[in-house]
Amino acid sequence: MPETPWSAVDQYITDLLVPPDAALDAALLESAAAGLPAISVTPNQGKLLQLIARIQGARDILEIGTLGGYSTIWLARALPAGGRVVTLESDPKHASVARANLARAGLEESVELRLGLALETLPLIARERGRPFDLIFIDADKAGIPKYFAWALTLSRTGTVIIVDNVVRNGAVIDASSADPSVQGVRRFNEMLAAEPRVSATTIQTVGSKGYDGFTIMLVTKGA
Ligand code: SAH
Ligand code: DHB
Ligand code: MG
Repeated sequence: MPETPWSAVDQYITDLLVPPDAALDAALLESAAAGLPAISVTPNQGKLLQLIARIQGARDILEIGTLGGYSTIWLARALPAGGRVVTLESDPKHASVARANLARAGLEESVELRLGLALETLPLIARERGRPFDLIFIDADKAGIPKYFAWALTLSRTGTVIIVDNVVRNGAVIDASSADPSVQGVRRFNEMLAAEPRVSATTIQTVGSKGYDGFTIMLVTKGA
């Protein structure tokens, strides 16, 4: 495949601003070796997640969709001492690769990986926890985004930041007649978001080594 200009520029940016890191690099290599799909966030996107978490001062982070733990490592490294990432994964193979990657990164203490369907785990978390999350990253199946968004609001406070990955899908998001459940999931989420008075949100399109996609970022503005 010929390299796109945005892949080459992503490489250029990553070479300049995202230095090689043994644990992050190993997480990608081991994920690929185990046959996991190559759908982690890119290095410069991982760093963006980490910067947002640091800017916000997040101590309690929820991630929906762990895969091999690559984005999890970026987020966990943003935590202050005593902070915690809870990450949800339904595929036992992905979870076991992620556990090994997190252990190699020295993050066993600060990351809690919960195996199971997110829609089954989220109600348990809501019941168990006495406090909301500061940052929530939604990055599991795209058909589930509307329900994950509703849970994210339940698990939020005023000031929580919620990020939703993969909301542009090569532009397919504007195709109202799409039969793709991922596209329909994103579209239903967008309708909920537009009508949701408790958040202020925007969506940014992205190009890079993972092609053309985008993410939504929002701030919870009224106690959700
Ligand atoms: N956040 C990761 C990528 C996640 S890929 C990163 O950037 O590094 C999406 C993950 O969500 C996959 O591992 C998939 O198994 C998981 N997933 C899909 N449906 C799910 C569900 N219903 N509950 C929990 N996890 C799910
Ligand atoms: C897919 C999932 C992702 O989280 C991503 O970043 C890219 C693609 C997918 O399921 O196709
Ligand atoms: Mg994603």
